[in-house]
Amino acid sequence: MNPLKLVGFKTKHLPRAYVNSSVRFHHEFSTQERLQAAKKAGWNVFQFPSEMLKGGDLLSDSGTGTLTAKQMAAMILGDEAYGSNYGYFKLLKTFEDTFGIANADSEIYFFHQCRAAEHALFTQIGGFGNSLKIPSNGHFDTTRANIENNKIKAIDFFSKKLHSPDHSTFKGNMDIDELEKLLKSDLDNIPLVYITITNNSGGGQPVSMENLQAVRKICDKYHKTFFFDACRFAENAWFIKKYEPKYKNKLITEIVTEAFKLCDGFTISLKKDGLANMGGALLIKKSAPVLKKHPELLNNLRDHQILTEGHPTYGGLTGRDIMTIVEGLKTVITESYLDSRIGQVHEFGRYLKERKVPVLEPFGGHAVYIDTDKFFADTKLKRGDFAGISLTALLLLKGVRLCELGAFAFGEDYPHNFVRCAIPRNKYEIQDLYYVADCVAEMYQQRKKIPKAIPVFGRNLTLRHFKARFELK
Ligand SMILES: Cc1ncc(COP(=O)(O)O)c(C=O)c1O
Repeated sequence: MNPLKLVGFKTKHLPRAYVNSSVRFHHEFSTQERLQAAKKAGWNVFQFPSEMLKGGDLLSDSGTGTLTAKQMAAMILGDEAYGSNYGYFKLLKTFEDTFGIANADSEIYFFHQCRAAEHALFTQIGGFGNSLKIPSNGHFDTTRANIENNKIKAIDFFSKKLHSPDHSTFKGNMDIDELEKLLKSDLDNIPLVYITITNNSGGGQPVSMENLQAVRKICDKYHKTFFFDACRFAENAWFIKKYEPKYKNKLITEIVTEAFKLCDGFTISLKKDGLANMGGALLIKKSAPVLKKHPELLNNLRDHQILTEGHPTYGGLTGRDIMTIVEGLKTVITESYLDSRIGQVHEFGRYLKERKVPVLEPFGGHAVYIDTDKFFADTKLKRGDFAGISLTALLLLKGVRLCELGAFAFGEDYPHNFVRCAIPRNKYEIQDLYYVADCVAEMYQQRKKIPKAIPVFGRNLTLRHFKARFELK
C-alpha cells in the first residue's frame, strides 16, 4: 500500500488558511426589535446598531476584519511613546520590505486612516492652481470628496468593459485612450494621475500589470506623476498572478514590488490590506515629477500631518495600531491567506449567482456587487426610487447589512448602480455568507413587492448616503 497514492484524491472543499482562536457570540434580538431600530435609524444602514446584526455585516471590509493571534500578541508590544516609538521603525522596515521602495528614496507619512492622507495630499495640491483635474480608473467616494473639496475636478475613466457581459478579466483597468485624450488637451492642469487597485467604485475589479505599465508609459510621455490608491494592493496582485500568464509562477511579493516600481507614490488605507482596524499612509518617492515644480510639497505635507495627526512617528495611530499593521502587512502577501480570502468571496458570489441574483462578474477581491438595475429590471421601480436603499434597509430586519453604492450614494446619473456585499477579512465562515445570500435571493423572489425609498432628510446634502433618512413606501 502506497499511503501517498491512497490519499492522492482531490476534495470538493478546501480548509481555510486559519482556525478561529477567539469568537464572539451574537446577542439575541427579535425582528420586531430590529424593525424599531431600523425606523429609529431612518432606514439608514450606517445608523443601524451593529449589535443587532446576526447574519452578516457586509457594510464594509474596511477595518472590520478579525485580527490574527500574531497581531494581538504584537499589540502587547505596542510602544505608546510620543516620539519615535518602537513600532514606527518596524513599520518603516515593513513598508520597505512589502513595497520594495527604499525608505531613503521616499517620504512616508502615517495617518489614522486613508482619508486623512487624502485630505493632506489634495489640500496641498489644491494650492497648485485653478482648473485642476485628477483622472483615475475610478475614484473612491472619500477620495473624490477630498479632491472636489479642494476645487479640483475628479474624473473617472472606467474601463469600457466593466459592464460587458463577456466576463473579461481586469475590468478595473483605466481607459488609457481617454487618459491620453485628457492629457493632450489639458496637460498643464493635471497634477497627478491616480489608479485605484483594486477598483472599489468600479465593482471591486482588478487592474492588470499591463494597464499599470501602460499608464506609467503615458505618464512618462507627458511628464506626469502617477499615484496608486493602494488599499487592496495584495488582492490586486493575486489577480495578476491568476489572470496574467506571465505572472503565474511569481510570488505575490514579487508582483507587488514590480507594480510599485511603476508608481511615484501612493495613498493606502491599512484598514484593508494592512489587515488592521485602523491606519493609513501616504508615500511619495523623492523622484516624483511633481516635486520638481513643487519641492515645498514634502515639507508642507509634514506640517499638515503634525497639525492634524500628531508627531510624524505615530501619525494619528496608537503604538498598538502600528504593531497590528506591521504584522498585517506580513500576512496579507502570503498566498494561502489570499487564496482563502478571495476564494471565500468567490464562493459567496457563485452561490448568489446560482440563486439567479444578478451580480457583476467576474467577482472582485473584497466584495460581490449586486447589479441593482438588473435586480429591479422587471419591476416598476426606477433609479430615482432608490430601490437599492430599500433592499439594504429591509435586509436589516434579517440581521444582514449591505451597502448601496449607486443611484443614491453617487447620484442617479452615476454609470453604475450597485449594492455592495463587502466581506470583512478573516471574520465570517462561509455558512454566514450562505445565510446572507439566502436572504438576498429570497428578496429577489419578492422584488416586485419591494417599496420605493423616499429620502425624507438629506436628499441634497453632500455625502448624503451617510446622513440621509428614508421612508419606505
Ligand atoms: C479605494 C479606497 N480608497 C480610499 C478609502 C478610504 O480609506 P479610509 O477608510 O481608511 O479612510 C477606501 C475605504 O473604503 C477605499 O476603498
